[in-house]
Amino acid sequence: MIHVLHVVGARPNFIKAAPVLRALASRKGVRQTLVHTGQHYDVNMSDVFFRQLGMPAPDVSLGVGSGSHAAQTAAVLLGLEPVLLARRPDVVVVYGDVNSTMAAALAASKLRIPVAHVEAGLRSGDRAMPEELNRIITDAISDILFTPSPDGDANLLREGVSKNKIRFVGNVMIDTLIRLLPSARRPAEPKLDGRYVLVTLHRPANTDEPAALKTLMRALAAIAKLAPVVFPIHPRTRARLNKAGFKAPADGRLKLIEPLGYLEFLALQKDAALVVTDSGGIQEETTYLGVPCLTVRTTTERPVTITAGTNKLVRDYASLPREAAAALRRAKKIRRTPKRWDGKAGTRVASALLAWLGQRRAA
Ligand code: UD1
Ligand code: UDP
Repeated sequence: MIHVLHVVGARPNFIKAAPVLRALASRKGVRQTLVHTGQHYDVNMSDVFFRQLGMPAPDVSLGVGSGSHAAQTAAVLLGLEPVLLARRPDVVVVYGDVNSTMAAALAASKLRIPVAHVEAGLRSGDRAMPEELNRIITDAISDILFTPSPDGDANLLREGVSKNKIRFVGNVMIDTLIRLLPSARRPAEPKLDGRYVLVTLHRPANTDEPAALKTLMRALAAIAKLAPVVFPIHPRTRARLNKAGFKAPADGRLKLIEPLGYLEFLALQKDAALVVTDSGGIQEETTYLGVPCLTVRTTTERPVTITAGTNKLVRDYASLPREAAAALRRAKKIRRTPKRWDGKAGTRVASALLAWLGQRRAA
């Protein structure tokens, strides 16, 4: 029996882990344990994904909650170590680039438990982003690295990672999208007829400086004059807007709503005339869906969304309304679906992981 322990903690982790859990569940001789660190804990940031994605309930919940980077990372280390010591899995699988990912990889590798990283090799080159540090550290201490696109392989090789640790499996987030697209359904509110713009923003660089956040919200209000804007607000951003006393313009065209479930968000994303975001995963989902996307950041760790897809970086807030107007005028861009973004990445992870563990046992 091979024992695989998965660690998830934040919204994007659930969407990435679901296809790997499903693929491994269909393999003989595999036992799985799911650990939820509790980095995200609101019903609409966590439970709703377990339900809509058909994921098993976590076997262990660490309940780490919110805190500074140090506090959150330390809480995952302290919470996970006894779980790993008691359960002794053959491998720990971590996903993406959040604090829970990096902390879980560190806890396992210090105990000499092999670590598999799903969504390895992505680099923005910007170490001011906490995620970039999490990516670099996680990849450096992982034993097997599953990349979503060839630039991931190239980045890892450039950093001196041995080629035989790297497996180009494709994009697990797109597996979930392909599986659930037929079930996507619009939320009852807001009512929308005709074209609209969908917005998500939660990067500290955009939210944590009150003056910058206000300028950004003014840019969104300007875009709302072109087409209604729907903005499901991440709790980090909600907290910052509340603190700044921000009120949406009275014309009701900038619609600030709570974070949506996966199926509701997917339905809005699929039909949007334009998406404005700073999310990692949404750059990829819009590329797959062929929906124009403006990413409010100076860099991206997902360059294929620009070269093959529909994504464009917008570096300054002042040019956002102009860029949005241009994107709304343009005909939909023909995009190429990046290689291995085909709904089978989770199956490739399962096969490669089990083959690798089998070889280790035999050695
Ligand atoms: C985290 C990840 C980020 C990822 C994002 C996905 C890190 C460093 N950041 O950012 O890479 O893109 O998740 O959404 O790991 N909060 C709630 N309820 C919740 C969760 C958070 O109210 O269920 C609030 C708290 O005020 C908290 C703040 O949001 O302090 C930030 O949460 P945190 O998990 O620290 O970072 P995110 O901004 O969510
Ligand atoms: N998402 C969602 N509801 C929302 C906003 C986003 O289901 O209200 C989904 C989105 O479709 C994608 C994932 O959450 O699958 C992206 O997560 P997020 O933007 O929080 O994190 P990032 O990808 O930036 O790390």
